[in-house]
Amino acid sequence: MPTLFRKSREMRNYSRLQKCEKRLTIGLVPTMGYLHDGHRRLIRESKMQNDLTVVSIYVNPLQFAEGEDYDRYPRDLQRDMSICEEEGVDVVFAPTDEDMYPEKPLVSIEINGLTDVLEGKFRPGHFSGVCTVVLKLFNIIQPDRAYFGEKDYQQLKVVERLVKDLSLNVDIVPVKTVRDLDGLALSSRNSYLSSEERESALSLYRSFLLAERLIKEGKKDASFIKQAIKEFLLSHDGVRKIDYVEITDENLRPLETVEESSRILLAVWVGNTRLIDNWRIGCEQV
Ligand code: PAF
Repeated sequence: MPTLFRKSREMRNYSRLQKCEKRLTIGLVPTMGYLHDGHRRLIRESKMQNDLTVVSIYVNPLQFAEGEDYDRYPRDLQRDMSICEEEGVDVVFAPTDEDMYPEKPLVSIEINGLTDVLEGKFRPGHFSGVCTVVLKLFNIIQPDRAYFGEKDYQQLKVVERLVKDLSLNVDIVPVKTVRDLDGLALSSRNSYLSSEERESALSLYRSFLLAERLIKEGKKDASFIKQAIKEFLLSHDGVRKIDYVEITDENLRPLETVEESSRILLAVWVGNTRLIDNWRIGCEQV
């Protein structure tokens, strides 16, 4: 079993010893638990590039707004520990709320520009909460590298800016989205889906294939592609609402004309579950 730390002081002391005295490198896989094959891929990348791999497991209340799924977010530390053991993780850091936030934090991270679109527009305060906890995790664990999935593409871009703008001493390593064989992007929130809802959720992936086909046929107008995606999604009974469908460049700037390697990003409600996914045109495969 990996070593389990529940307190940041223990985690910090461990990291200090490994890094300063033993000169070992640390890779961090930050998660909110309920691990799946997407997390396994992050862990494997980390194990290839670092002497030690730490997985953090913490459902961060700061990044959930009132009425979101904080309370029902799936939690199962025993199950996560077994997965980490199978993957040869060295340390699991699963702090308690009291340890992470002994009192309501007065300081938080504000991000301007990158977060007023897409997820940031629909989840105000979300990225401030993400950046605050990620910065705390970096300070406690002191990783040399940290691994973030492209599934949460805007999060990846925001964390890259956090590191750049605050000159943090960690390399952010992006890792490709992992999909089930039928194309559904892996997410802990997929556990909310009934089998009929899961079937409807496949429309997200299939809408990317539709867009690929239209683009190959020469349709380059982003509004046209976005409209085709929306109509396709809404033609599925289980798809209740679309928050957004956007086509951007690699830095999340909206495009009017689709280019090679543009990215489609979307957020869709299937029943009571909000799913996000994204796709780099011409570059993805399952
Ligand atoms: O992507 C996640 O699981 C979370 O947003 C993260 C990065 C662990 C911060 O809580």
